[in-house]
Amino acid sequence: MAYKILVLKGDGIGPEVVGEALQALKVVARRDAVDIEFREAPIGGHAIDAYGKPLPDATLAAARDCDAILLGAVGGPKWDNPKAEMRPEQALLGLRKELGLFANVRPVKSVKEFLPASPLRPDIVNGVDLVVIRELTGGIYYGKPSERRSGADGREAVDTCYYSESEIERVLRYGFELARERRKKLTSVDKANVLSTSRLWREIATEVAARYPDVKCDHQLVDSMAMHLIRRPRDFDVIVTENMFGDILTDEASVLAGSMGLLPSASLGEELNGAGYRIGLYEPIHGSAPDIAGRDEANPLAAILSAALLLEHSLGMRAEAELITQAVEGVVRDGYRTRDLGGGAGVKVVGCKAMGRLVRERIESLEPEA
Ligand SMILES: NC(=O)c1ccc[n+]([C@@H]2O[C@H](COP(=O)([O-])OP(=O)(O)OC[C@H]3O[C@@H](n4cnc5c(N)ncnc54)[C@H](O)[C@@H]3O)[C@@H](O)[C@H]2O)c1
Repeated sequence: MAYKILVLKGDGIGPEVVGEALQALKVVARRDAVDIEFREAPIGGHAIDAYGKPLPDATLAAARDCDAILLGAVGGPKWDNPKAEMRPEQALLGLRKELGLFANVRPVKSVKEFLPASPLRPDIVNGVDLVVIRELTGGIYYGKPSERRSGADGREAVDTCYYSESEIERVLRYGFELARERRKKLTSVDKANVLSTSRLWREIATEVAARYPDVKCDHQLVDSMAMHLIRRPRDFDVIVTENMFGDILTDEASVLAGSMGLLPSASLGEELNGAGYRIGLYEPIHGSAPDIAGRDEANPLAAILSAALLLEHSLGMRAEAELITQAVEGVVRDGYRTRDLGGGAGVKVVGCKAMGRLVRERIESLEPEA
């Protein structure tokens, strides 16, 4: 039976970077004789223009009927009016909610070649290899009431942070499963000294930890975690936290890699058929970069690495995922860079298409790991 992958190229540089990621996937599928059916659908600003909404019904239906989704980015100045009824970003919230994508997974690995580009000292970031898991469909971004109103004191506003036991438990369980396959360390981040939701979070984290005695679990308050993450990032393996804390910590963690252009992400839902693989949405962490769209300058590596995450988490093809990662690392080691990654001695600056081609050639030259 063929795997079904939905490709949502989106706006700005989305089509350029996803185009290269798609071709990398096709090379892997061809060389390992894996049957993958690729479908495409509109999303974001272009979908607003053509269909009157950022997540057309047909796109959502196609997303429900696939094993995984590869996304570029959405948005751009044309659709930036904050008062507009429809905004491209609504498509992402809609997909997350409709597909139950509750765990946002962002691996951050420092790359030796980019250590000098990091604002942090090389001795701090060298060897960083961590994953931040952010709860994605609950918490203060979704709680009701969330509104502005008039009160006795004039204008006031309220947002509500709500978490249920099952929402907290499933994302922590996913974190422990992942930690088990890595260095067996999990840091649960909360604000248990102040918030009720965080006290429940810590209570459940402690209960789930008891079911994973082989994983070392510790708890950090989010404010001190923000400091530890840049002071001693090598000490962390898997970090799990709620939606808003994760939103902030994932951006902070992205600095550790030296370049945003290398960071993929996965948003995962429940297991498919109990087989360990999950429906997932895979995308680079960068946006649609309208300033360089259509100029063949975009860096496709984060999108290509997102395709590697897709193979690993939704198709269970770890060796093939590793092949793509190794190919990207090899090309970077050989000195090839897109403009955003910076120049320097021995560096060869190439465009988006050439970078994609170099990665494909590298994939074809590598033997998959057993
Ligand atoms: N998940 C998403 O779809 C997503 C995420 C963030 C921003 N956005 C949207 O993207 C648009 C632009 O947002 P922004 O400027 O704040 O962030 P951005 O990430 O698009 O761009 C920030 C800077 O980084 C550069 N850049 C980003 N990705 C690059 C790549 N792959 N290669 C080379 N350079 C790259 C851009 O040229 C720009 O100078 C906005 O409409 C925003 O809403 C979408």
